[in-house]
Amino acid sequence: MRRLLEKLSVRLSLSTHWRSRGRKAAAIRGFQATEADGVWHLHRGLARSADPRLRAILFTHSLEEEAHAEEFGHVYKAYTDREIPAANYERDDLYGKDIELWRSLAFVHVGEEDATSRFRAIAQALPVTDPLRASLLKIVEDEEGHVDLTAQLLARLGAPPAEVRREYARVRWSRRWQAWLRSGKGAIDTLATLMLSAVYFAAAPFLFAVARRKLATRHVEFDNNRTKRLSE
Ligand SMILES: [Fe+2]
Ligand SMILES: [Fe+2]
Repeated sequence: MRRLLEKLSVRLSLSTHWRSRGRKAAAIRGFQATEADGVWHLHRGLARSADPRLRAILFTHSLEEEAHAEEFGHVYKAYTDREIPAANYERDDLYGKDIELWRSLAFVHVGEEDATSRFRAIAQALPVTDPLRASLLKIVEDEEGHVDLTAQLLARLGAPPAEVRREYARVRWSRRWQAWLRSGKGAIDTLATLMLSAVYFAAAPFLFAVARRKLATRHVEFDNNRTKRLSE
């Protein structure tokens, strides 16, 4: 059901919002920033482990996420003349130092699953000639591997399976809540823009008439002492 809803929402986005090349480029920038952010979180997890094998695996994993960020940075230029702008994030650790490391990996696992299904749905909906499709298909192969890898790492860390399932559910709810907040913020921003535009267009004829009257004499009088009097 979740996969079906995702396919429908992706197709709807592609046929409406993403028809503009600029908006498609903005979405690619978001993907690039998320991949680059994933590198940072993996390095934070790596720093908390003393197991050389686990550290090596997390480091290799982070290199693949870095490659995904680069791939998105490269394909971004197919939709715009500009270089991809740097994303400014206030980065917070996923979990505090006293929380078990496996919980961070459970968070990464859910992110990998979501990325796999989202990127696959987008790639399948794009035309064969679309440059983003080729990039996504390459990335999806890695993401599928990361889903298995993070599940294996959780077992290696001795995370109790029942607790892991509960953590997955908690992370999924938290991600949905964050997505809902983001979409709510987007809707409020759009509404505010529409209201300001309506006020602007309603006031424009009046302001135009005032400006025209003032400029009719080709000499605008301005009382420079007005602000001074107001503060007295
Ligand atoms: Fe990735
Ligand atoms: Fe990944």
